[in-house]
Amino acid sequence: NQVQVAIDGPSGTGKSSVSKLAAKEHGWGYLDTGAMYRALTWWCLDQGIDLTDQQAVAEAGRTFDLRMGTDPSAPSVAVGERRIDAEIREPALTEQVAAVATNLEVRANMRDRQRALMEQLAQETGGVVAEGRDITTVVAPDAQVRILMTASEQARLARRSKELSSTVEATRAQIVDRDKADSTVSQFMTAADGVRLVDTSDLTFEQSLAAVLQIVQE
Ligand code: CDP
Repeated sequence: NQVQVAIDGPSGTGKSSVSKLAAKEHGWGYLDTGAMYRALTWWCLDQGIDLTDQQAVAEAGRTFDLRMGTDPSAPSVAVGERRIDAEIREPALTEQVAAVATNLEVRANMRDRQRALMEQLAQETGGVVAEGRDITTVVAPDAQVRILMTASEQARLARRSKELSSTVEATRAQIVDRDKADSTVSQFMTAADGVRLVDTSDLTFEQSLAAVLQIVQE
């Protein structure tokens, strides 16, 4: 009786923190799919691969030795033995992820990797919480629990600028552009059929977590 929980949404909705804690609460594995796109971006830059060279990036995506640490209390990302947890959060890298994430061959490969990881985690721990932009629609459309976390642009900007310790204006440029690029390949601004909506605009973090745990329980 394995449970797959798929959570999508844009940045600044509380998706990552809620997903981790929901997984921890049940003793399940946690999969940060955004970190996978970030890791491939890091690898391409490290290898001197031109991000606009679609074929080279797709080939790198098929062959790189990505190792996802899926313990929700201490998630980690490595390529081979090299840990890259801090590197993949650098703002300069974040700006370049879209070039990789809009590559359709990359997406097909990531989808396969993500499905395999979700399957494996569900088997090993009885469940999995996977978060991203296309988990409810593409990676795991058959998951028992599918949730879209949203929030007003204002709320998302306020949260992200606090996280990044930058101004709302600087954050706006980063987030709005990224949402636009991401929206060309994934549907995550409105809920797909059968996907439960959790609007966190006026919720505290604890309330958002409670809302998600409630849906998982149903
Ligand atoms: O910073 P934030 O938490 O919003 O982003 P993330 O979840 O770390 O994802 C980083 C980027 O990876 C996104 O902006 C998307 O371009 C891409 N991504 C994707 O295309 N599909 C996913 N399932 C997850 C992330």
